[in-house]
Formats: sequence, structure tokens, C-alpha cells
Amino acid sequence: MKALVLSGGSGTRLRPFSYSMPKQLIPIANTPVLEHVLKNIRDLGVTEIGVIVGNRASEISAVLGDGSRFGVRLTYIPQAAPHGLAHTVAIARDFLGDEDFVMYLGDNMLPEGIVGIAEEFTAQRPAAQVVVCKVQDPRSFGVAELGPSGEVLRLVEKPAHPRSDLALIGVYFFTPAIHRAVASIEPSARGELEITDAIQWLVTSGAEVRASRYDGYWKDTGNVEDVLACNRHMLAELRPSIEGEVDATSVLTGAVVIERGARIVRSRIEGPVIIGAGTVVENSDVGPHTAIGRDCLVTGSQLEDSIALDGASVDGVRGLRSSLLGRSASVGTTDRGADHYRLVIGDHTRVEVSA
Ligand code: TTP
Repeated sequence: MKALVLSGGSGTRLRPFSYSMPKQLIPIANTPVLEHVLKNIRDLGVTEIGVIVGNRASEISAVLGDGSRFGVRLTYIPQAAPHGLAHTVAIARDFLGDEDFVMYLGDNMLPEGIVGIAEEFTAQRPAAQVVVCKVQDPRSFGVAELGPSGEVLRLVEKPAHPRSDLALIGVYFFTPAIHRAVASIEPSARGELEITDAIQWLVTSGAEVRASRYDGYWKDTGNVEDVLACNRHMLAELRPSIEGEVDATSVLTGAVVIERGARIVRSRIEGPVIIGAGTVVENSDVGPHTAIGRDCLVTGSQLEDSIALDGASVDGVRGLRSSLLGRSASVGTTDRGADHYRLVIGDHTRVEVSA
């Protein structure tokens, strides 16, 4: 079996971050989503992985390299524009050859892994096997209607009146039967070749399509709220380790990781918290549920339930919560008096201050 990891797309829901970095490299508990994805695939024993990349290809290859660091072999497959999930299968045709493959959306987190689901696919080998997860409100998902033994009867994209609460999540298993389906469908109303249409084509043509239920934690990290929620979930598993320096006046509680070269001075860190290499935290309260990247500077501040990417700084700001700070972003104070804000913010940025 091979794997196809989708790391193109436009990432409009993750602006402004997606203006300057591929959203699949957003760190969750200080590790890019894509690294979590590659680990799950390697755990299946799959080592030949095609990575679909869009206009941010170079950043992705700079981080993942040839894959040897993860024990896999990566082949980068450029997609000129995000023409849809089924389009990625079409452009990966040569790489995939006539092998079965797992298609994995590069922004999806399934920390419990997919080994059991892959085993089901290999044992039964239907033409396609989707993975479904029970959700509260299925109206914003692709929804699968299943028969009594887990066979897919129908797939409906974002139904107004869902007939099941089983949403399709970002992992699919395919035999080479999918290639004919992909070649047979037309672009949807939004102009994309939809993988749900290709799978529905298989169902309609009488091929066996099955669904496996994933009951573990799942998150599509496509927007800021979900990135933060996923970060909270992943930090809950943190194993404490202190490699940096913590001065005698600082207090650490709960699970805290201080990476090499980081310095904690006169501060309180309430885990779960991870603080990246080279970062300095001084006179501050950090945590819980906070991941700070490398070479950041946090001084005289209070930061909770947040993620700061590499090089970010926070100076003199109390009560910063549920925030996502981009690379080398800085948040500070102004000396122009109370009730005065000064903002230098990029396109599609979001700022919330107390009313
Ligand atoms: P989406 O998150 O559905 O699409 P998007 O990246 O365009 O995001 P947004 O809706 O915020 O604009 O895509 C799921 C995954 O598949 C994601 O990792 C990007 C990837 N993808 C491709 O690689 N090629 C494509 O043509 C599309 C549509 C998505």
C-alpha cells in the first residue's frame, strides 16, 4: 500500500497564517500537523508517500525533506491550483500506479492512529473504504448513509437535512478502482473535482464501498478555534521534561516541557505547557494549555490556552487567552494612555479587545 498526503489547498479559513505558511505546518504542541500525519502513516508500515503540494511546496519540503527522518520516502507532487481532492488522485496517477493507497488530508489530526481501520481495509478490500466519525451537527460535513453491515448506501455533501450523524473525515482507503471513478466525474458547482462524487460514482456503479468508524479524537485543523482545541487535546498527553533553565524563583506545576536553551525567569508556568528551544519567559504567567515555539520572548505577560509560533514576542500584556500568534509576531503595549490601541495587522487578521 502507498499513501497520498494532501498538503495543497488554499487554507482561506486559516488566514492570515496561510498567507505566509502552508496550514499543514501549523504546530500543534510544537509539532507541525504534517509530522503527526506522517507518523500515523508510518505506523501502518506504509513508507512510499506522495505529498501533494501547492504554492507553498518549498516550505513543506524544507521541513519534511525526503522523509528519511520519519522512516519514509516522500515524493512531492505539485498541484498547480486547488482543483479538488479527486483532482489530487488524478495527478498522482503515475506515482500510485496500480497499488492500493490511503489518502490522508494533511490538516487532519487523528492522534489515536488508524492501524485498526487499515487492517479492516486490507482484510475486506472493498473498492473504497471511507472513515466516519459521529458528529454533533453533520450539516457542515460530507455525510455517509450506511446499510446494516457498514456498507455505504449514499454520500451527501453538507446536507440540509442529514439522515445520519456520521461525517466523513480526512482519511480514505482506495483500490485502483478509484481511478476510473475520478476520470468519470465532472467538477462540482464550486468548480472542484470532489472525492465524494468519485466515491458516490463507485457506489452507483455497484462497487463495494464500506465505512469504518473512528471513535478516537479527531480534528480538522482548518480554522483557528480547531487548531487551539487540538493543541489543548495534544498537550494533555505531554510528558514533562526540563532541558532548559528555570531560576529558583519560578514555579512550575503540572506537565511542563522546557526545551533546551529556553530560560524561565521569575515566572509561573502552569502545565500543560511546552516552551520551545531558545525562548525566554520572564516575569510572566504562562498556561495552562499553551505551546510556545522557538526563540520567543514573553515578558511581564500572562498567556493562557494559546499558541505562539517561532520568534513571536509578548511584552507587558496581561490576560492574553485563546490566541494564535504567527511567526515573529509581536504583541506589546503603547504608552499613549489608557483606552488607546495601536495595531499594525495584516490582511484578514482578527483582533479582539475587551468591550
Ligand atoms: P480543505 O481544508 O477542504 O481546503 P482548503 O485547504 O482549500 O481550505 P479552506 O476551505 O480553508 O480554503 O482541504 C483539505 C486538505 O486537502 C488540506 O490539507 C488541503 C488539501 N487540498 C489539496 O491538497 N488540494 C486541493 O485541491 C484541495 C481542495 C485541498
